[in-house]
Amino acid sequence: MPRMTFIEPNGTRREVDAPLGLSVLEIAHRNKIDLEGACEGSLACSTCHVIVDAAWYGKLNEAKEDEEDMLDLAFGLTRTSRLGCQIVITEELDGLTVRLPAATRNMMGR
Ligand code: FES
Repeated sequence: MPRMTFIEPNGTRREVDAPLGLSVLEIAHRNKIDLEGACEGSLACSTCHVIVDAAWYGKLNEAKEDEEDMLDLAFGLTRTSRLGCQIVITEELDGLTVRLPAATRNMMGR
């Protein structure tokens, strides 16, 4: 099974199983990693914002326009930012590394 690594805001690395077909958001939740995902993957928030390791960013499918629009609202946007609910694990992504941003801005008004 592929594996992936989350880097928490304090620098802690968490390497976890990354089942094929699951999103980075789902994997975070399974492993109790603190990635919110307030809209459960329906592209209506930006709380699943992750910063993809530069070496991996180019291997991801390109962000759709809806994702880009949501990302624009994310706090601490970087050039390799993506929404975790839109990254789905494939064999090629075995080893994927993403960093959790220090803070998120919840667009769902909580
Ligand atoms: S969980 Fe809301 S956009 Fe990803």
